[in-house]
Amino acid sequence: MAPDPQSRFEGYYATARPPWDIGRPQRAFVEAGEAISAGVEGRPARILDSGCGTGDLALWLAGLGSAVTGVDFLEKPLAAARRKAAERGLAANFLQMDATAVGTLPERFDAVTDCGLFHVFDDAGRAAYVAALTALLEPGARVYLLCFADAEPGEHGPRRVSEAELRRAFSSGWQIERMEPSRFEVLPGIPGAEFSPGGARAWFAEIRRV
Ligand SMILES: C[S@@+](CC[C@H](N)C(=O)[O-])C[C@H]1O[C@@H](n2cnc3c(N)ncnc32)[C@H](O)[C@@H]1O
Repeated sequence: MAPDPQSRFEGYYATARPPWDIGRPQRAFVEAGEAISAGVEGRPARILDSGCGTGDLALWLAGLGSAVTGVDFLEKPLAAARRKAAERGLAANFLQMDATAVGTLPERFDAVTDCGLFHVFDDAGRAAYVAALTALLEPGARVYLLCFADAEPGEHGPRRVSEAELRRAFSSGWQIERMEPSRFEVLPGIPGAEFSPGGARAWFAEIRRV
């Protein structure tokens, strides 16, 4: 029987370094960083980093002046994220929770960043996750999402996502503003995590709550 998602990710974090934990934010997010972290009405942007892992994206956004909360369902990467925050002198809030429950958070957010979480879910989990984002975000707020694309060969690693699937998942209550081919960078030399040179083929999407 396949391990449940938490055990699967615990297994990854028990290794020296999971393939996605590249020690910096993915290039796709860096390129969009100005838009993501643009303040609203003179106050810093409030950002939720969903499935934040060890926190490099969350902390990079905090360094740009955003008020950032990172959530992950595992305590181990969150502890690493808190350690990095202390070492870098950056403030961010890291919470252990399942991303399908973010709709219950009392805070309001201008944006959600999702770097490699959406492509983890099965169909039911995906629907629950999008429903949670729909409950969480008010009209005008945005989701910035990087996921493996169906253009990436093979079936190892994360689930491949087609353009049609992504559009279907966000078809009600959302407007896809931008969806472009991108790359998901991984650490080199990890057996079973060999993807296209330059990074696994991916989608980067900006999706507005309407
Ligand atoms: C591929 S990793 C990406 C981590 C991080 N965003 C990054 O780019 O380094 C996916 C992360 O999502 C977390 N995760 C998976 N399913 C989750 C869920 N249902 N709720 C919260 N976190 C989840 C995993 O523990 C892992 O840290």
